[in-house]
Amino acid sequence: MSPELSRFIAGLPKAELHVHHVGAASPRIVAELAARHEGFTPVPADPALVEAFYDFRDFPHFLQVYLQVVDLVRTPDDLWTLIHGVGGDMAAQQVRYAELTITPQLHLVRGFAPQEFCEVIEDARHRVEADYGTVLRWCFDIPGDFGVPAADQTLSLALEQRPDGLVSLGLGGGEHGVPRSLFAPHFAAARAAGLHSVPHAGEVTGAQCVWDAVRELGAERIAHGIHSVEDPALLEHLAEHEITLEVCPTSNVCTRAVPSLAEHPLPALVAAGVPITVNTDDPPMFGTDLNREYAVAAELLSLDEKGVADLARAAVEASFLGAEGTWALLAEIDAYVAQNSSAPLT
Ligand code: ADE
Ligand code: ZN
Repeated sequence: MSPELSRFIAGLPKAELHVHHVGAASPRIVAELAARHEGFTPVPADPALVEAFYDFRDFPHFLQVYLQVVDLVRTPDDLWTLIHGVGGDMAAQQVRYAELTITPQLHLVRGFAPQEFCEVIEDARHRVEADYGTVLRWCFDIPGDFGVPAADQTLSLALEQRPDGLVSLGLGGGEHGVPRSLFAPHFAAARAAGLHSVPHAGEVTGAQCVWDAVRELGAERIAHGIHSVEDPALLEHLAEHEITLEVCPTSNVCTRAVPSLAEHPLPALVAAGVPITVNTDDPPMFGTDLNREYAVAAELLSLDEKGVADLARAAVEASFLGAEGTWALLAEIDAYVAQNSSAPLT
């Protein structure tokens, strides 16, 4: 990657559509929380050791470590500090807008009351926008491994509290033994209440999981969806119905969902005409950030500055930011390209 393209990516105004709040916490913040709760956690209280702790054998091991970090969020101040720190890190990456996936049920079972939880995240969201200018929205994620009761709790919280920042319902965790259809009633109720449908599917299992997410959960975007590549009819369906995949290349290698970046299906998905966006998932856990994921995608897809700017535009266009915000952010990207492009204007 040329230094010019790296610089262009670093300064490019961006939107991120797939990033988990706990997974986005910096090693500094995670170590700080571990120090607050020393004695109760296997997570190290030293940022350098936190980075070493994030070495995953496989997808189940990743989920286990993820929950150990969730365990560190015990007080309203822990939650606020985490979200505020994530917002600051995003702003440093020129992320102007992010849909942050947050899994309320994991916090409810650790002692947060529904109203308190929503007040804290909304306060942190407003402070992030005031302090850094980055606009956050929420995707409330069902932790699929915990079954229908956890989905019931997530949906109740979403519909009863309905924080202003909430735009969508998600479904995360494992896929093996967790059929998407289990949660069809929850997604139907959320959609009827005006929330968007953005489940994980086809991350570590096959194309059938993505079909189920589309047919049974009314998915408008799919988190990961990379195994769609196995089914040409599905690729055609995603392209025709403009169902965007939130692709997270480095995540897929770190969780062993794909064997290597060189074998990542991103180029095949793009070649099939499927709309894609590039995202981080759980950036410090995977030793990455959004600029790096753009660089990875640029390598995989042989993109120049124009191609990279198109990736940023695609994320804005597939977002739930609303017409006015979308238009403004697209205009900001256009202005950046006009001022910073090394290619002569034609
Ligand atoms: N929770 C956090 N990261 C996740 C991922 N990559 N897949 C499913 N659930 C998750
Ligand atoms: Zn995810």
